[in-house]
Amino acid sequence: MTPHNSAQKGDIAKLVIMPGDPLRSKFIAENYLDDYEIVSKVRGNYVYTGHYRGTRVTIMASGMGISSTGIYVEELYRDYDVETIIRVGTCGSYKKDINLFDIIIAGRTYSETNFPLTHSNEEVNIVYPTQSLNDKITDMATELDLGFSVGDVICTDSFYMDDLGKFFERMPSDIDPMVAEMESFVLFYLAAKYNRKAACVLSVSDIIGTSNDIMPEEREKGLKHAILLSLESLISH
Ligand code: HPA
Repeated sequence: MTPHNSAQKGDIAKLVIMPGDPLRSKFIAENYLDDYEIVSKVRGNYVYTGHYRGTRVTIMASGMGISSTGIYVEELYRDYDVETIIRVGTCGSYKKDINLFDIIIAGRTYSETNFPLTHSNEEVNIVYPTQSLNDKITDMATELDLGFSVGDVICTDSFYMDDLGKFFERMPSDIDPMVAEMESFVLFYLAAKYNRKAACVLSVSDIIGTSNDIMPEEREKGLKHAILLSLESLISH
């Protein structure tokens, strides 16, 4: 047990799918898992452990942003001995050729966050998913005939920005921003610290710089391919 998770150690599987939204955890558990149990309800973040096609998996939401994600991920790796976490979430597209509901697999993540400084007294701005897990995900996407792009994910501390131009000016020139989200940086950072595995599969929920009129229900539907890809990769990597 931790202050943020009332599950016993054995209640959490070694393999975890991590959406952002607790309601997405519920959706995944109800639609994809057999014999699932709710193993924690702390702060309304219901955690589900069950079986996906015979393999034990846990679904636990990250909440929004690096701070919330950092708490849950650290505790999963440190206190529950979790081996692999795949984040499945939504992102905003920076590129004209990346469209709504496209699947994006994070090739690496750049962030301006101070999380590594606060956490471990180090300055780190680029982090990577586990390459072997990413290879499995891209192979699986091909096998399932799901289109995808692998690219640079930008993980922001703020959803809202006054001046996107200045943000891009500060970005190292070798970063080629494809999409924005707010969680993958800390997942990859902590996976490396604990020598565990992590990856991030995203569905595009908005195009940055355009008005956003997708309803929450539509976002959920757009995530279905990303969820399937994540679960299949998780149980076979
Ligand atoms: N910015 C940051 N995070 C996001 C976005 C965005 O535009 N869309 C979905 N998650």
